[in-house]
Amino acid sequence: MQAIDTIQGIRSTVASLREGGNTIGFVPTMGALHEGHCSLIRLAKKHADEVIVSIYVNPAQFAPDDDFEEYPRTMETDLLKCDELGVSAVFAPSDDIIYADETFLTIKIDELNAYMDGHSRPGFFEGIVTVVNKLFNIITPDIAVFGQKDIQQFQILQQMVRAFNHDVELMMGPIIRANDGLALSSRNDYLNDEQRKTAPGLYRALSYLKEQIEDGVKSPDLLLDHQKNELKAKGFKIDYLNVFSMGRIAPVDELKAQSRYILAGAVYLGETRLIDNMILEITN
Ligand code: PAJ
Repeated sequence: MQAIDTIQGIRSTVASLREGGNTIGFVPTMGALHEGHCSLIRLAKKHADEVIVSIYVNPAQFAPDDDFEEYPRTMETDLLKCDELGVSAVFAPSDDIIYADETFLTIKIDELNAYMDGHSRPGFFEGIVTVVNKLFNIITPDIAVFGQKDIQQFQILQQMVRAFNHDVELMMGPIIRANDGLALSSRNDYLNDEQRKTAPGLYRALSYLKEQIEDGVKSPDLLLDHQKNELKAKGFKIDYLNVFSMGRIAPVDELKAQSRYILAGAVYLGETRLIDNMILEITN
């Protein structure tokens, strides 16, 4: 399988894949494909006739001191994986294709950007919305699949689809984890052996909190503080660990019955940032 690197090229491929009424599923990625990405490709294949994957390390979503240069790039093995999974075409453009012209337009995100990663990483979601907007206009998919791992990304992109009337249905795939619970991420490769052993601590903290909260704890502040201290003692630096509302992604202190919330954490082990989340289902 060969990657297509021009907009013209992918547009004509999409047009021929559509012949006979086939639907198009789309999985945008930054490559370094792991089982998490593969699960999204499989999900897309279940819901669409043809699946297109994009592989593009988007500079607009990296801050100047982020890991843009170090970000793993494994195009050859990525293409093999896509081939094995029955992907119809891979779009892997270069920066001068995606950001060809000087632009006089930027996207601003309001409320949904105020907490979690939006708060910690200024410009991050603006960069994501910019590139996904472009990719949706280039590929024009019927469905597009994203992971729950980046749940704020999913919520913001849902908003983008509504705000810009993209004719696409977004689907969210579950978080794929290693055997010890660590959410798979291309960035896990940065961890040394000792950090890799410590890393599932975040998953364990979230699992414990989910169990306690779903068991009836309505004001989880103390519980959250306790888990933050436990994580710090294990060597994590905490960015956030909190319960957020589903719709607005804002922190909540009091949990209501018959409601769903997002329990999410972001931590550092050394320089490596790890994120994870779980959906809380509060019944009574
Ligand atoms: P990337 O980090 O490569 O992730 C691509 C997709 O894979 C995202 O939808 C992400 O949520 C999903 N994913 C990552 N780890 C996962 C896991 N362990 N289980 C399930 N899904 C997982 O997210 C991006 O790229 C970029 O922001 C992008 C949307 C491509 C825009 O540049």
